[in-house]
Amino acid sequence: MTGLLHSLWILIFVTTCALAIDCNGDFTITKESDAKDLRENCKIIGGNLIFGGNISENINLDGVEEVQGSWRHHRPSDSSGKVDRLFNISSSTLKLVDGVFDLWGPIGLERLILPNVGNISESVSFDDMTNLTHVDFTNLKYFRSLDLETPKLQEFKIDELKGFTRNYTGRIFISDGGSVESLDGLFKGPIAPANEDALPTITIQNIPHVKQLTLGWKSILKAKISGQLWYQHWSPPPNITLILGGPDSETVQIHELETREGIIGIERGSKTSNLSIGSFMSMNDMITDLRLPFHQVSEVRIRGDRMTSLELPKEAEQWNNVSISIWLVRSLRLDSSVNAEGRQTWYWPNQTMSSFYILGDVSTNFL
Ligand SMILES: *[C@@H]1O[C@H](CO)[C@@H](O)[C@H](O)[C@H]1NC(C)=O
Ligand SMILES: *[C@@H]1O[C@H](CO)[C@@H](O)[C@H](O)[C@H]1NC(C)=O
Ligand SMILES: *[C@@H]1O[C@H](CO)[C@@H](O)[C@H](O)[C@H]1NC(C)=O
Ligand SMILES: *[C@@H]1O[C@H](CO)[C@@H](O)[C@H](O)[C@H]1NC(C)=O
Ligand SMILES: *[C@@H]1O[C@H](CO)[C@@H](O)[C@H](O)[C@H]1NC(C)=O
Ligand SMILES: *[C@@H]1O[C@H](CO)[C@@H](O)[C@H](O)[C@H]1NC(C)=O
Ligand SMILES: *[C@@H]1O[C@H](CO)[C@@H](O)[C@H](O)[C@H]1NC(C)=O
Ligand SMILES: *[C@@H]1O[C@H](CO)[C@@H](O)[C@H](O)[C@H]1NC(C)=O
Ligand SMILES: *[C@@H]1O[C@H](CO)[C@@H](O)[C@H](O)[C@H]1NC(C)=O
Repeated sequence: MTGLLHSLWILIFVTTCALAIDCNGDFTITKESDAKDLRENCKIIGGNLIFGGNISENINLDGVEEVQGSWRHHRPSDSSGKVDRLFNISSSTLKLVDGVFDLWGPIGLERLILPNVGNISESVSFDDMTNLTHVDFTNLKYFRSLDLETPKLQEFKIDELKGFTRNYTGRIFISDGGSVESLDGLFKGPIAPANEDALPTITIQNIPHVKQLTLGWKSILKAKISGQLWYQHWSPPPNITLILGGPDSETVQIHELETREGIIGIERGSKTSNLSIGSFMSMNDMITDLRLPFHQVSEVRIRGDRMTSLELPKEAEQWNNVSISIWLVRSLRLDSSVNAEGRQTWYWPNQTMSSFYILGDVSTNFL
């Protein structure tokens, strides 16, 4: 009798233990039933959330609101790198990841749906995520930095990034944007840096399906933008127009702007009354016509095998001490006539110029 009571007691004890998950430690998810335990018990996970093993079913984390540590999902060390099962991970309640958000493939994650996450306090990285097609970060407003290497990505959903956590400098590096058509949610906002000594940087290459890229951040140290992988010349580059100035940007200042293959035009945002560039470089053998819509620029360097026209707008009159160099052009037409759209195509800076250098052929009798 006592034996029976004893084992009953043990049974009850064990059952309670199984239900009472410790929400304060690290947690590993390898299957849906792990996620079920979490959803039913933990609004807040005090430690890290680690995805691992051989996940082969969809994981739902509705109910979890906060991960106080990091979110990590790496390919298993013994995996061959071959992904044979796809799965989705979603949570409609998650609001905060207070550490890093680190995905490292190849893993079979196909869709990551976290529409209500607002902050990821440390860096966000998607490395070698060969099977990821959709990311839903609709309400993500702040992170430290973002790395994107997502060759199959079709959509990166985000309304509008507002800035960087904890006064971090901020950095976005896109090495493969897959077939996303828009990245404006990341770049269009008038993001102001935490302080003038820590300006953010942007590096983008390989965004072949983007047609228009809007950059609205207020102050940027370096922006280096290419539609293709650098030195990838086996497929035709995309045709991307770069718009400097988002819907709410009055001022955009970029200390170093470099555009490469795939960027075929630069425009100024409609609200932008002060577009100020330190040094501008266009290295692009496909571009044919280029207009430089800057209010201020101190250095212009252009290399363009097929460039036929370069336009300096009225604002160029105020460019102070600018140095302009153009090289490897074959048939550049420079003239200050009025073009088909009724615009005069060349204004000389009327302040001191630092230098003016052309290496190549100018087809018009200009100077
Ligand atoms: C992963 O799980 C699936 C289904 O459960 C199985 O078919 C597959 O062989 C497993 N792969 C590895 C590497 O264990
Ligand atoms: C994952 O992506 C790789 C690389 O594109 C592909 O070879 C593989 O078939 C994909 N796996 C599945 C299950 O779709
Ligand atoms: C992931 O979600 C999408 C959209 O809901 C669905 O079409 C797809 O089948 C899901 N993937 C898996 C592996 O269940
Ligand atoms: C999100 O980050 C911003 C910027 O660091 C901060 O002001 C805000 O309090 C954070 N929100 C949460 C919920 O952590
Ligand atoms: C961020 O910088 C602002 C202004 O420089 C300062 O007031 C604030 O305390 C800083 N916040 C943190 C989390 O360091
Ligand atoms: C870009 O435009 C050029 C000239 O109009 C065209 O030949 C090329 O196919 C276009 N590229 C793409 C990827 O559409
Ligand atoms: C334009 O912005 C730059 C950089 O923020 C600033 O130095 C300059 O004074 C501004 N010019 C005008 C006319 O407001
Ligand atoms: C120089 O350009 C500015 C701005 O366009 C204009 O106001 C000014 O009259 C010009 N000065 C001369 C000497 O042409
Ligand atoms: C003009 O620019 C050159 C380099 O481009 C620089 O060395 C020089 O100091 C500048 N002069 C003034 C007056 O700013």
